[in-house]
Amino acid sequence: MSKLKGKVAVVTGGNSGIGYASAKELKNQGAQVIITGRNLEKVTKASQELGVKGVVADVKSLSAINNLVSEVKSDFGKVDILLVNAGIFQPAPVGQISEEMFDHQMGINLKGALFTTEKFLPILNDGASIINLSSVNAYTGMPNTAVYAASKAALNSYTRTAATELAPRKIRVNSVNPGPVSTPIFGKTGMEEEQLNGFAEAMQNRVPLKRFGEPEDIAKLVSFLASDDASFITGSEYNIDGGININTLLS
Ligand SMILES: NC(=O)c1ccc[n+]([C@@H]2O[C@H](COP(=O)([O-])OP(=O)(O)OC[C@H]3O[C@@H](n4cnc5c(N)ncnc54)[C@H](OP(=O)(O)O)[C@@H]3O)[C@@H](O)[C@H]2O)c1
Repeated sequence: MSKLKGKVAVVTGGNSGIGYASAKELKNQGAQVIITGRNLEKVTKASQELGVKGVVADVKSLSAINNLVSEVKSDFGKVDILLVNAGIFQPAPVGQISEEMFDHQMGINLKGALFTTEKFLPILNDGASIINLSSVNAYTGMPNTAVYAASKAALNSYTRTAATELAPRKIRVNSVNPGPVSTPIFGKTGMEEEQLNGFAEAMQNRVPLKRFGEPEDIAKLVSFLASDDASFITGSEYNIDGGININTLLS
């Protein structure tokens, strides 16, 4: 298992969930991996478990991203794989969207994601692979997700334009759109456990394959897109959602 041997990979939000599983898979495939997160304790624990470098960098802060880029440059030189994964899910119904929630969620999921790429560009190798962790919510009208969905739809739009503009450097840019995946993200919303369980059950029933995705399911797709096996793929989006995007009217 060494299809990523010799590659350097940065995974933002790598201390948990999809980022953690992806960092593990990228490392298993031979890459040197750097994970980031916003909490020192969590980043230290995860980086020790994974045996990779961990850096604290809150993507809401452009100076933190700049510092991350400088640290990666001085320790590793250039980067081949950039997994732009750090993100949050803050549900709120239309009519109750606060400016603070909008700025916070957009600040991480869109601005933070976009500037992660912008700031890493100078140290990306030609031929690098950028993977944006988006969501099938980019295409759905799921209640309470107006801002979250907009952040992911805008990220996918950036993916397409960046893919065109970075093609002369053979840098590939793609989006991964998961459906519901079992990670701590839902527990961070502040919803009560009972509410969370009800949400999970309702969601699972809508998935044709009748299960949540596992972070490892997403990690496999990430490692494929990161590899030379995907060398003709750019500007694309991959739904990985147990079929939920088919949006069955009857089941
Ligand atoms: N789980 C799903 O069902 C699902 C579905 C579609 C898309 N996604 C997307 O997948 C990505 C990963 O989510 P996940 O489900 O794996 O959630 P998760 O387990 O909560 O992991 C998210 C990671 O991002 C980090 N993060 C959050 N805000 C950050 C910031 N400002 N700066 C740096 N790091 C930050 C988190 O740090 P902390 O541990 O400190 O919070 C954590 O390491 C997100 O972009 C999410 O929108 C998830």
